[in-house]
Amino acid sequence: DMDSFINELMGEMTTEEKIGQLNLITPGGGIPTGSVVSTGVEENIKAGKVGGIFGVSGPEKVRQAQKLAVEESRLGIPMLFGSDVIHGYKTTVPIPLGLSGSWDLELIEKTARMAAKEATADGIFWNFSPMVDVARDPRWGRVAEGAGEDPYLGSKVAQAMVRGYQQDDLSSPSTMMATVKHMALYGASEAGRDYNTVDMSRQRMFNDYLPPYKAAVDAGVGCVMSSFNDVDGIPASGNKWLLTDLLREQWGFDGFVVSDYTSVNEMIAHGLGDLQAVSALALKAGLDMDMVGEGFLTTLEQSLEEGKVTEEDINTACRRVLEAKYKLGLFDDPFRYADSSRPGKDILTDENRQLAREAARRSFVLLKNDQQVLPLKKSGIIALVGPLADNKNNMLGTWAPTGNPQLSIPVLEGMKNVAGPGVTILHAKGANISDDPEFAEKVNVFGPRIEIDERSPEVMLKEALAVSAKADVVVAVIGEATEMSGESGNRSNLLLPESQKKLVRALAQTGKPLVLVTMSGRPLALVEENALAAALLQTWHPGVEAGHAVADVLFGDYNPSGKLTMTFPRNVGQVPIYYNHRTTGRPQDGDKFAKFKSNYLDVPNSPLFPFGYGLSYTTFEYKNLSLNQAEIAKDETLEVRIDVTNTGDFDGEEVVQLYVGDLVASVTRPVKELKGFKKVFLKKGETQTVSFSLSADDLAFYNFDMNRVTEPGQFRVFVGGNSNAPNVKEFTLEE
Ligand code: IFM
Repeated sequence: DMDSFINELMGEMTTEEKIGQLNLITPGGGIPTGSVVSTGVEENIKAGKVGGIFGVSGPEKVRQAQKLAVEESRLGIPMLFGSDVIHGYKTTVPIPLGLSGSWDLELIEKTARMAAKEATADGIFWNFSPMVDVARDPRWGRVAEGAGEDPYLGSKVAQAMVRGYQQDDLSSPSTMMATVKHMALYGASEAGRDYNTVDMSRQRMFNDYLPPYKAAVDAGVGCVMSSFNDVDGIPASGNKWLLTDLLREQWGFDGFVVSDYTSVNEMIAHGLGDLQAVSALALKAGLDMDMVGEGFLTTLEQSLEEGKVTEEDINTACRRVLEAKYKLGLFDDPFRYADSSRPGKDILTDENRQLAREAARRSFVLLKNDQQVLPLKKSGIIALVGPLADNKNNMLGTWAPTGNPQLSIPVLEGMKNVAGPGVTILHAKGANISDDPEFAEKVNVFGPRIEIDERSPEVMLKEALAVSAKADVVVAVIGEATEMSGESGNRSNLLLPESQKKLVRALAQTGKPLVLVTMSGRPLALVEENALAAALLQTWHPGVEAGHAVADVLFGDYNPSGKLTMTFPRNVGQVPIYYNHRTTGRPQDGDKFAKFKSNYLDVPNSPLFPFGYGLSYTTFEYKNLSLNQAEIAKDETLEVRIDVTNTGDFDGEEVVQLYVGDLVASVTRPVKELKGFKKVFLKKGETQTVSFSLSADDLAFYNFDMNRVTEPGQFRVFVGGNSNAPNVKEFTLEE
């Protein structure tokens, strides 16, 4: 069995070889997100100094590299091959923030399963995903990579992704080991600046930020990545409370922990000592594998000699890495993921592209649709303008290094394919994503995301107005370039760049119905655009099938059903803004300013679009909210039912959401919290009774003493199509 196999193997290993297993390298084939990449790769592999590698792909290359370990190192221990497969491998699906907006866990699981099949076909079997960091600050670029602001939804999405990647069988050649990241609280970087310090109460941590990591652990995730930030004053990568007491002892995690890139070394800059000191600190804290930084490789032996770490510390970490390799089946066949016949049949298949298209259209959120300007008719003349209308370089979104932008379908092409012969589409770019060359240079690190046209902004605008003048309706595809969000893609302002604002203003002046299709990796502040446009469709970065998916929705071949998983603020000054905030003693009444209440002089407290919000081409009416009893005992469940009717002219889907507010407790509680949701399909005219059950456990929370408790008292249930759910009933949880 595994234990005796590993005991025997470790019995033969020198200390140096054990430390070698804790070393993760990258030869630089991927995205170097820090200042170093590994050198001396071949020699180190042969010397047994490499436990895993990332940034190498393709069965042939993987086989070649694996051979060095298996055939030329003394003990022949196979290496792990990892990668960041964040939203699809080659068949790129929407950015995770968008995908979460589908509220469709089955779909999310399917996309993860597809990613695992494609990645393993290309030799990669360890994934640095899912990213489950709860995020309430849209300035932070990495909100694009997570499931938004809610711990309940975030936990469900985390589990769906782990299931999709691992499918409860790591040894299958088409599954990959998942890594939940970034443990922990990485989404709460101060001021929305990536890699920045984090400070929060234990209550907020346990109630709001930790649940998705724990959910992934409960789903059996194989690996955990430690985050760059500090947690309660100690950087995550050296935080024993976090990586051992909480993760292993309380949560029962039994996989291995990898650092995020050079986060071990970065503890030097945090002021915790030199490389030897921080490496020892990390190992002692429970960090098992050191990504790229080589602190473990170069200092642990000395620390052992000096008694700063023990042989036992090294053994523990080494064993965890070897166990992962065993579970992946590498000791049976180290080349099981290096099958040259697979890429041709498993990657970018028609079926996969179809799933990407389905995932994209299900992730879009219709934010506004006045006078039913959408869906567009498949006749007449459409002016299609905007810097993202015919733009392959920005369809995939952030962290899609394995995708090929050139294979993506731009909106113009998608519209032409879907429109049919009755439609004439006139295209003009109209504006640059940004006119600022300095800004463009910062965004363009991985490719030409912002291309500043040779024509002057005035000439481009004129062209857009000329085509608009001939059209029945104007569709403008605007928003952010992909690297305006993502890692290190932080912004202090959430507006569209000025170049695009001017375009929107000019288009609105034409008096033609104006449809805005926004692409972005974060919630933008769209107050002005919302006022100027007849319709607003938020499409994130939709992935390889972008254009087809956008066209499907614009022309009504698919009725939009997505709902926001992050609040859209009115302006950046409202940030952090999220629906499940705790109570204040002086709440604002409605949206009206009142002196000496908790509010602003210049903007209401409410967001532009709340969490859970999203329209459909049809309308839904909620009626007859009922609870099966007004009081429940702690061992009973409460049945919540509501009738939902499709009252409009289209068949469609609605995400029915259940929130609970805890009215009396020993600590201040969120005004409401999501506790259930169901996505239902209703034919026009159809009514369905949607039901939820709530147990006392659903009402539990961490109290002041950090005990998870259910406190008796009064609760409020809210049901509806967004977090401002207007159907309300109260119940009591008995002593
Ligand atoms: O997995 C990523 C992480 O999310 C950010 N830093 C680099 C890692 C490896 O590419």
